[in-house]
Formats: sequence, structure tokens, C-alpha cells
Amino acid sequence: MKTASRVLLIVGGGVAAYKSLELVRLLAKAGVACEAVLTGAGAQFVTPLSLSALTGKPARSELFDLTEEAKMGHIELSRSADLIVVAPATADLMAKAAAGIAGDLATTTLLATDKPVLMAPAMNVKMWEHPATRRNLAQLKADGVAFIGPDDGEMACGEYGPGRMAEPATIRDAVLAMLKPSGPLKGRRALVTAGPTREPIDPVRYLTNRSSGTQGYAIAAALAALGAEVTLVSGPTALPAPRGVSRVEVEMAEAMLAACEAALPADIAVMTAAVSDWKAASVAPGKLKKGPGEPEPLKLAKTPDILATLAKGPKRPRLLIGFAAETEALEVNAAAKLSSKGCDWIVGNDVTEAGVMGGAENRVTLFSAQGAEPWPRMSKTDVANRLAARIAAALGDQ
Ligand code: CTP
Repeated sequence: MKTASRVLLIVGGGVAAYKSLELVRLLAKAGVACEAVLTGAGAQFVTPLSLSALTGKPARSELFDLTEEAKMGHIELSRSADLIVVAPATADLMAKAAAGIAGDLATTTLLATDKPVLMAPAMNVKMWEHPATRRNLAQLKADGVAFIGPDDGEMACGEYGPGRMAEPATIRDAVLAMLKPSGPLKGRRALVTAGPTREPIDPVRYLTNRSSGTQGYAIAAALAALGAEVTLVSGPTALPAPRGVSRVEVEMAEAMLAACEAALPADIAVMTAAVSDWKAASVAPGKLKKGPGEPEPLKLAKTPDILATLAKGPKRPRLLIGFAAETEALEVNAAAKLSSKGCDWIVGNDVTEAGVMGGAENRVTLFSAQGAEPWPRMSKTDVANRLAARIAAALGDQ
């Protein structure tokens, strides 16, 4: 796996902004290249010139600086780094990022990025403790933003308490830890499918199912957290892509199969998608009209079985895991799928259990050559973490 070593540093407007210069110096010493973006207020505390001199690259602050935008737009800027560090993260910047406001280069970059974000908050203690900041902090954490600090201490305003930005050396250590994801799955490639597929009947109608994608997204996030390089091939869902996971969005089963094959080779494949087993035998070019008589029965055709295709294919992932959503005879059906699909494990669940399909919890049984192992009911995140740990253990033993 590629070791990340480029940081985009966003400098907010606070007295602690001067410490960002020291942070750039420490990161450079550790071999990490930085590029800087200042908010308007940030530029009041440190000059773009000082940051440019230390980073060796022009520090930017203008969203509509056409010459800079022409050279590198905010989208590219936000993607070219491996990690975005916000130091100092002021109450204002945190609020805007939590709300998804994109009014300047710094906030637009934060909204446009698909890279991990580390924030080092710095503000007055009352501002830090204000319910609005607590809400924003909780929201940003839920969105996957990592935090370092703030520390307790005396502040520039003379008050004492939490709100001082973490020391540059502490931020550097957090940056280095995030840049080099260690973990038992480091260097492993994983493919995860999630969500339903959508098979068109005519230009306005389609066949689909109730899958929300929650379980698959949680598994993709859990594998990435253990250091795997994860491709998530997803049908239509309302979920944001987990941080550090590259998502490929598809609609039909055939497109999902093509995206999966393109993501190979992989060490691990976890197929959680609720792939529609059928599609319309022919897709009507125009909207089907109701007409006066009884409707014609809809003729269906089979979609490709993605899991079985990967199992038989030349690039079969080393550990291939299927899911079995059953409404009856879970043990018998799931165990049968283990051999019929040619996978190594089947995670079976009874989808008639209240709150499972589309909900936040799951009760699964892990089927493998070793037999059936029922897990207690737990959150889908816990199922994901436990499964990721089992995957890491299984690959570690091979
Ligand atoms: N699956 C797949 N491609 C399909 C259908 C299913 O890759 N066309 C995968 C699912 O992602 C899951 C596993 O196969 O990992 C089992 O899915 P499930 O819907 O439970 O089984 P089916 O193959 O549809 O079998 P049945 O309809 O008999 O339950």
C-alpha cells in the first residue's frame, strides 16, 4: 500500500495560528510535505508569505483567485493531499464544517474532500464548552473527523481551561499516526458490495428491495480502520462514503459485477449487497402506459450472481464472504449457499427479525467449514468490527 505523505494544512483565525508554522517545520523534518490554505481570519494571524516560505508552495486563501483556481481547483486541492489538518480549528470553522457550509476556499476544500480530516481545536474555554460547539464537535466526529486536543491551560485571553491548541509536536505525532495506518490489514486490498441494486422496467420504474446498505458501509469502514485499502461498490443508498474508502456507485447488477471485477485483485471480498435476482426481461424504451385492460405480466430474467461469478473467476479473492438474508430456515439455507456460491464464509441473518432490514442492529450467524457460530444481537457497527477482526485473524493465520 502507498504510504501517504502529503498534508493540506488549513489555518484558521486564532492566536494559536502562529503554532502552525512550527507544525509545518516539524512535519517537513518528518518527511511530510505540506501545502497551506488560510481562512481570511487566519491570514490576519500568520502571513501567507511565512507559510509559503516554510512549505515551499504558495499558501492560498482565495476561492475565486482565478489564476490559482485555474492551476489547481479546490476539488483537486482537497484530493491531492493524503490528509487534511485544520490547525487551529476555530469555533467558527468547526461550525461551518459541521453544517457543510462552503463559503471560502478552506470550507469548500473541507466539504469537497474524501480524505481523512484531523482538527486541532483552539478557542476560548467558554466557546469550547458552549452547547453549540459541543453539538458541532459531535457532528464532526460522527462525520468521521478526527480530533487532537484541545489542551487545558492558560489562554491568550487570560482565562484558564480546555481550549488551548495541542502542541505542534503532539499534532505532528497524530498526523504521522494517521498517515501510516497501521493495523493487521495494512497492505491488504478489500472489496465490499453494499446496498440494493435497481433494475429498470421502463424509464421511470425499477425493481429494487429494502436494503439500506448500512451493514456493508459499516464493514467497509471497519476494514479500512484496520488498515485495508477498501473499494466499496455500492448500489443506491442515502449513506455518505466512509472516510478513507473509495466508493464506486452503480445501479444495476450487471454494473455492480463489472465494478467488482475492475476492483480485483483483492485479498478480501465481502458481498453484502442485496443484489436483485431478477431484472425485466426487456426494458421498455418509453413509459409503460396503463391502458384500458388488465396489465400484461412482467417478464423477468435472471441477473448475474456476482458472488458466484467471483468465486469461479481467475482472480478469486483469497477470503470470499457472502451474506445470506433469509426469511426462513436460516441454518439450512445459509449452509447451502456456502457451497452453492463457492465462498469461504456466509454471514447469515434472519431478515424477518424486527428492526434488522434498514435498521441499526443485526443478529447474524457466521457459517464456515468449521460450522455455524451464532453471534448475539448487536449494532451493525459492532457486527462490522467483529467481522473485520475475524478477517484479520484468518488472513494472519494463512
Ligand atoms: N449475490 C450476488 N449476486 C446476486 C445475488 C446475490 O452477489 N445476483 C450475493 C449477495 O451479495 C450475498 C449472497 O449472494 O452475499 C446471497 O444473497 P441472497 O440474496 O441471500 O441469496 P440469493 O443468491 O439471492 O439466493 P435466494 O434467492 O435463494 O435466497
